[in-house]
Amino acid sequence: MNNMGLKSKDMISAADLTKAEVDSILKEADVMLSHIKRKKPLDMLKGRILATLFFEPSTRTRMSFESAMHRLGGSIIGFSGTEGTSVTKGETLRDTLRNVENYADAIAMRNPIEGSARLAADTVRIPVINGGDGSNQHPTQALLDLFTIKVEKGLKGTKVALCGDLKYGRTVHSLIYLLCMYGMDVRLVSPKTLRMPKHVLDDIKERYSYAPVEEESLDGVVGWADVLYVTRIQRERFPDQNEYERVAGSYFVDNETLKKAKKGMVILHPLPRVDEIRPEVDCTSCAKYFEQSFYGIAVRMALLKMLIGGNG
Ligand code: NCD
Repeated sequence: MNNMGLKSKDMISAADLTKAEVDSILKEADVMLSHIKRKKPLDMLKGRILATLFFEPSTRTRMSFESAMHRLGGSIIGFSGTEGTSVTKGETLRDTLRNVENYADAIAMRNPIEGSARLAADTVRIPVINGGDGSNQHPTQALLDLFTIKVEKGLKGTKVALCGDLKYGRTVHSLIYLLCMYGMDVRLVSPKTLRMPKHVLDDIKERYSYAPVEEESLDGVVGWADVLYVTRIQRERFPDQNEYERVAGSYFVDNETLKKAKKGMVILHPLPRVDEIRPEVDCTSCAKYFEQSFYGIAVRMALLKMLIGGNG
């Protein structure tokens, strides 16, 4: 498949992607990675504009999209937080989007409402990239997670444990599709109250005839996993803060955990972390979460080039 396959498309859910599309994104990301490493200035998206509309906090997603766009020779407009925009005057999301589409060639948006990215894609003609819609989906994070797994461990027969807040964490709701798409062995580790939603597991079963094993303790997977994908408990999504307090700190990875780990195991995390990976782990060879965030630039460059298309 060539770049034309994704041109002008939206990126709303990992479940929308075909394996051929994901393969082509990974391949393009490889090319972008070599450009980044050679510090090669590019002009593929010269004259093109990306609007980053971040209604929710973000460090990596927004900045790596911006960095990616700049590295491709394009430019950026947008906002981070709605203060200073007409949203504070009561403007609807649809109206905001209808204006932004006049100003940009594509939109990367993060919004707390599940389904808002799909609504955005239905509203505007330019490509919409979902940078996270509530607890629902975060497809570009899943792509960079997959790319990191490919670089660090390879994709074939890799065993991946997804750990932490599988209920509210949108990154795992996206990543599970890509892992199953590549036939990886997946285990799910979470407190009972934070299990992967049934609708996701049902969809995975239907698409891939696969039902990941679910467990409650890290002990069961550290000796098994090639990749330990750790997530933050999503405090901001809990309707009841007492419920958050009950599960906060219920699991963590430290050097003690690593003693039981399979040889060569790597730890990934979409970041930010709170206390679920202790800082002492950072200087071990298992820690790959900062590399993961670095690969995010290559993956987002690949996506922007493929979705916006360019003169390169
Ligand atoms: C994640 C998110 O926003 O869903 N962060 C990210 O994009 N790297 C994970 C999180 O906030 O816990």
